[in-house]
Amino acid sequence: MTTADTATRPALTDQAGKLLANLAGYVGHRTIEIGLRQGLIAQLAQHPDGITPETLATQTTLDAFYVGVWCQSALAAELLEEDGDRYRLTPHMGTLLLDLESPAYMGGTFIVLTQPEVFDTFAERLPTGEHIWWDQTSADWIAGVAGTGRAFYNRLIPGGLERVPGLVDALNGQARVLETACGAGVGLVKLATGYPACSFVGMDGDAYSLELAADKLRAAELTDRVELVHSPLEDLAYDEEFDVVVNNISMHECRDIDKVITNTYRALKPGGVFVISDFPFPDTTEGLRSPAGRFMSGIQFFEALIDDQLLPVRAYLDLLTRHDFRQVDTVAISPVHAITYGRR
Ligand SMILES: C[S@@+](CC[C@H](N)C(=O)[O-])C[C@H]1O[C@@H](n2cnc3c(N)ncnc32)[C@H](O)[C@@H]1O
Repeated sequence: MTTADTATRPALTDQAGKLLANLAGYVGHRTIEIGLRQGLIAQLAQHPDGITPETLATQTTLDAFYVGVWCQSALAAELLEEDGDRYRLTPHMGTLLLDLESPAYMGGTFIVLTQPEVFDTFAERLPTGEHIWWDQTSADWIAGVAGTGRAFYNRLIPGGLERVPGLVDALNGQARVLETACGAGVGLVKLATGYPACSFVGMDGDAYSLELAADKLRAAELTDRVELVHSPLEDLAYDEEFDVVVNNISMHECRDIDKVITNTYRALKPGGVFVISDFPFPDTTEGLRSPAGRFMSGIQFFEALIDDQLLPVRAYLDLLTRHDFRQVDTVAISPVHAITYGRR
């Protein structure tokens, strides 16, 4: 080893510190996941002035000793703060973890990452590279993904859409809107409720997700304005039908993305807008090592199972430009969310 190598080589203790940070992240994640699943965080949110572990245990019908251990770990993770013998949520944690309608909602993601479809199935299939598709995932998984997608819709509708020049004018009129890969229908309900003069088509390749979407639309009494179509996006065959096409956290999944974008372009009226709302996968090592990049590299395990990967924003800018969209641009909405759009 040269002197120069020794000078630039990190100390063993620094490297151990990096591993320790990974252990800490894992423990924090599991603590939050347990708190969400067992109702501890929801109960704490009812007590802004704090609650003792014993009372928390009584109110959640959980064991008092175990609840005390959980509270300590939640204190370590900065989910909780202490006030004498009571604990309360630190600022904004109730919104971030529990408020399904908040653009800042993150709770669903803590659940989804612990489901077997991410790491367990990946590890099982690592030797063979065998893939799965949505129809081989569990009902819990589809519900979990809808929980993660919900946060993206909360940021997209209306805030993200308002950042696309001219789009809100169209949506406040009688626009015809297509949501490609609408999944379990969270976005369709939000779109149809927010833009009451518009009519909608939701298209998805997974029959079970569409059943959930149909249930949600019926419950929200929106079936007269929203039609559902079961089809791969590669077979999307509309001509100059839509003023707006929206795709939420799914464009990276297309089997043949050039075919889908060609179909999308054709489905738009001249002047119509296509909005891609997705994870902006980092394209630098520095970005990959940021908290957002590290989180998104976890999502890639599931994406690999369904034979795709999250894409960097640059790939969408290239895609839209290559397929003759005009006024192509992108807006960063959060560290894990960007919208990229273009006009036919
Ligand atoms: C990550 S989920 C997102 C669903 C919904 N947009 C949301 O945010 O909750 C991806 C969806 O894309 C659908 N999908 C993926 N590739 C597709 C394709 N090539 N054609 C049709 N649907 C597809 C899946 O069935 C699934 O419902």
